[in-house]
Amino acid sequence: MTVHLLHVADLHFGALADIRQVEALERMIPDLRPDVVVVAGDLAQRARHGEFQRARAFANLAARTAPVYTLPGNHDVSWWWRPLVPFGRGVLYEKYRRYFGPDLTPTLNVPGAVIAGALTSYGVAWGSLTPRVRDMSVIGHLPKREITRVRAVFSDAPADAAKILVMHHNVLRGEISGRMGLARWRQAQRRILDSGAEVVLCGHDHQEGADLLGDRVVVSTAGTLCERSRGGRPASFNFLTLEPTAVQITVFRWEGERGRFQASDTFAFARAPAGGVPAAVA
Ligand SMILES: [Fe+2]
Repeated sequence: MTVHLLHVADLHFGALADIRQVEALERMIPDLRPDVVVVAGDLAQRARHGEFQRARAFANLAARTAPVYTLPGNHDVSWWWRPLVPFGRGVLYEKYRRYFGPDLTPTLNVPGAVIAGALTSYGVAWGSLTPRVRDMSVIGHLPKREITRVRAVFSDAPADAAKILVMHHNVLRGEISGRMGLARWRQAQRRILDSGAEVVLCGHDHQEGADLLGDRVVVSTAGTLCERSRGGRPASFNFLTLEPTAVQITVFRWEGERGRFQASDTFAFARAPAGGVPAAVA
């Protein structure tokens, strides 16, 4: 069974969102005919009601075509509340939950795939403390309990279902930024490799990418649809085709003069049958 998946991230509704790009994507979704739409966090810019309301309108529109999966990014967390206070965490996600439901990391089953999420956005938290002060609310971390939960979801799933893990922060180092999205990233990468995921969908770096983690997990990093793209690159999103023996990731890039997204490069990875070990083929 082949699964088509639209992967976007970092829409940043609010001042940074480029409404031409958002509307162009909204118009494209029925033509792309994805089986599932994943928004890998940072729907909002300042976790404001109006931003979430626009994000929800986007999700509702996409849901006319396919089930929509979202989880919160660092910009969707009201991190300025109770920084470093380990209890009362609920307030951080109150607004996000109001618009996207109580479960921050739901599990979504579609024919041929199971999609699980790992929460990496905790505001200013002990787990994401870094020496760079301005990074404290930006960088994420991947707690063991998240991966333990995800691993259980994947091990309960049918053997032939594609195991797809969604998280906001980039798992691989950004090419231009040179930065990892996660604190203690080596440990996080080991946890991901241990989770049973075949494909990871992430964002945060604002630069698109498609690569392998540990030679066996395909990592799709979505670019952004907002004005703050990395290195002045065009806005982009990824479209994945998961076949029984291959995963293909096509990057759609914004063509400003024509006012549309255009399919550009495609990356292909072998996928071992029933969740075995894939390898890069192109
Ligand atoms: Fe982010």
